[in-house]
Amino acid sequence: MYAQVIETGGKQPKRPDEMSAEEKAFMQRIENNEKIEPKDWMPEGYRRTLIRQIGQHAHSEVVGQLPEGNWITRAPTLERKAILLAKVQDEAGHGLYLYCAAETLGVSRDELIERLHAGKMKYSSIFNYPTLTWADVGAVGWLVDGAAIMNQVALQRTSYGPYSRAMVRICKEESFHQRQGYDIMLKMARGTPEQKAMAQDALNRFWYPALMMFGPPDSDSVHTAQSMAWKIKINTNDELRQRFVDQTVPQAEYLGLTIPDENLRWNEERQAYDFTPPDWEEFYQVINGYGPCNRERMDARIKAWEEGAWFREGLAEYGRKMEAQRAKVVNA
Ligand SMILES: [Fe+2]
Ligand SMILES: [Fe+2]
Repeated sequence: MYAQVIETGGKQPKRPDEMSAEEKAFMQRIENNEKIEPKDWMPEGYRRTLIRQIGQHAHSEVVGQLPEGNWITRAPTLERKAILLAKVQDEAGHGLYLYCAAETLGVSRDELIERLHAGKMKYSSIFNYPTLTWADVGAVGWLVDGAAIMNQVALQRTSYGPYSRAMVRICKEESFHQRQGYDIMLKMARGTPEQKAMAQDALNRFWYPALMMFGPPDSDSVHTAQSMAWKIKINTNDELRQRFVDQTVPQAEYLGLTIPDENLRWNEERQAYDFTPPDWEEFYQVINGYGPCNRERMDARIKAWEEGAWFREGLAEYGRKMEAQRAKVVNA
């Protein structure tokens, strides 16, 4: 899922007269929409920003397995269980592509994971909310994967080659995720009054956390100008959030559910919905580690990492043996 760009501190892009010849040539390539590849020259800030963004994105995919994984054993039918398993497994795959893309920038996967566990890297705020009922699995697919697609479709055009190519496949899978979520919502919204109430309750709880996934408002989003100049970011947070609201409102209407916002209305002049923005205070709380499930999520990740140590060591040992065997054959 979920390249939420979580921005703290930052600066404005350089003016051409402040750039070296290398930087000027690099910016020219960006303006020509050429992809930047791992061995190409790139400014240090570009490399660092990408490591942070792709790393956070990879962490989000992996941590994002936890809220839904919570429901695999309790899926209501065998078919739903198989679908959910496939979906959660896809997210692990997204994490892997993205860690690989980050590694092409000169950081190792272990290092990224270490930074996550030490609290030095973040992941999308949305995964710090609990999934309390089966309807939440529907709401997560519909809204969370839906918001992720909005972001990731744009990122297919990002300037860094490995990142943009990873997005192409990820987007195809995300659209399956979004549909499976919507299908659960549809079933529940057309089910018994209790089921419909569960679907409405899930929408009530996930609406604002989903809007927060696009990151802080543009007015507070300090890296935006530089990231947009580098075409690491294609649209601003507010643009994507608006696009998401405009797309999702008719889907909620079709379900017969109500978006929990009294101020939501179509604005004829803007040709877009007006809506109440999220509570940004809550967003910063969650991002800074004080959301409902932050502790639980990190504990689960650290436990999985520690318990998997024997397996990683086994793989590395196998690799060393194969290498030694190959060397013997070559030297024989
Ligand atoms: Fe994903
Ligand atoms: Fe997904």
